[in-house]
Amino acid sequence: MDKIIIAGGKRLSGTVPISGAKNAALTLLPCALLTEEPLTLRNLPRLADIDGFQHLLNQFGVSTTIAGSRPADFGRVMTLEATRITSSVAPYELVRKMRASILVLGPMLARMGEATVSLPGGCAIGNRPIDLHLKALEAFGARIELAAGYVKAVAPDGGLPGGRFSFPVVSVGATENALMAAVTARGVSTLINAAREPEIVDLCNLLTAMGGRIEGVGSSELTIHGVPRLHGATYRVMSDRIEAGSYACAAAITGGDIVLKGAVIAEMEATVQALRQAGVVVEPYDGGVRVASEGELRPLTLATAPYPGFATDMQAQLMAMLCRADGASVLTETIFENRYMHVPELNRMGAHIETMGRTAVVHGVPKLTGAEVMATDLRASMSLVIAGLAAEGETQVHRLYHLDRGYERLEEKFALLGAEVQRVSDE
Ligand code: UD1
Repeated sequence: MDKIIIAGGKRLSGTVPISGAKNAALTLLPCALLTEEPLTLRNLPRLADIDGFQHLLNQFGVSTTIAGSRPADFGRVMTLEATRITSSVAPYELVRKMRASILVLGPMLARMGEATVSLPGGCAIGNRPIDLHLKALEAFGARIELAAGYVKAVAPDGGLPGGRFSFPVVSVGATENALMAAVTARGVSTLINAAREPEIVDLCNLLTAMGGRIEGVGSSELTIHGVPRLHGATYRVMSDRIEAGSYACAAAITGGDIVLKGAVIAEMEATVQALRQAGVVVEPYDGGVRVASEGELRPLTLATAPYPGFATDMQAQLMAMLCRADGASVLTETIFENRYMHVPELNRMGAHIETMGRTAVVHGVPKLTGAEVMATDLRASMSLVIAGLAAEGETQVHRLYHLDRGYERLEEKFALLGAEVQRVSDE
């Protein structure tokens, strides 16, 4: 197993290319199931989760070819062709490893009239139920059965009629599944209190490019006029606002000055606002975003919230940055009940963070010190890397597979910024 070794204390400077968004890619890939024609996705990040999703789609009989980019390039182009679907079952071994597999439920139901997907099971950042995915599909006319750890969704003969569903809480995944199920329904479907994340807009844009008809894109009320069939498309995955925000926190904590090439400021407003409040310069720059700091950081009080609020996926990285702020910050996690696994590890590096339920008080400290650490999820792992970059001495972050799920070739990107980050085998 690989680990990362960071020699702390280097000021980041230079330009880093921002990859295609993992969270968008994972909802664009299953759209291949909605058409017999080829779907080509450009700017797909090279990540373990994307490979996993490709493998899952291959199991259904979807052919995938990768072309158009050299190994040295970031990102790649994938063409997916679901001419004939040979299975509509997503097995436990695959779903267990990758929660996003649940996103085949909606499109598979739309295309095949039925879909069977293993229930995802426990997850490191909270119990993460899927009841809203199922309720939305039921509202559109699907029959849902649960048996032996699997959920089976069946559409009436002739396809889903469509319907109306109001989300009691905002759910990104359930909004995505519902959209993909409704796009070829027989009638009109309405989603109230739908998620508005930029990744949802990316999904709506792809579905529209494939011939779908969706009104209200970017708002919390989506009206989907079912169309009889979708066609193929070529589409570029949006840039990763969470990856961009992560590198921004890394620059800020090291007193660096970097350019996030390809990042879109309008898609990361809440992060930008938080960084500016902390005293970091963030501005549009040459097809991207410049982030600069003298290393003097002010404390913040903020809570995670659905978009346009501050993303739960940025909480751990911002917390790492605030460990070096001048005063106490108060962060509240409102999306997941168990998303502070990075706290004890950051404290082992000299941070002073106290948690009380969903709230964390981050007392800024004058210095962090390198240590051997590990985390149990993707963003928590990145927070340890960020702390390591600012720490005195060497930090080793174990369980690198978490980072490989969501950060494309992170050690190469940090090298572009002048950091000393090395990948080595753990053995
Ligand atoms: C969530 C985040 C998303 C992030 C992703 C990975 C939000 C709104 N969503 O998306 O930004 O990229 O995690 O970290 O910030 N819920 C239910 N029943 C369901 C589905 C969800 O009760 O069927 C609850 C969840 O427990 C959670 C909330 O709704 O408290 C939001 O979950 P949801 O948006 O669905 O999670 P993801 O799609 O994984």
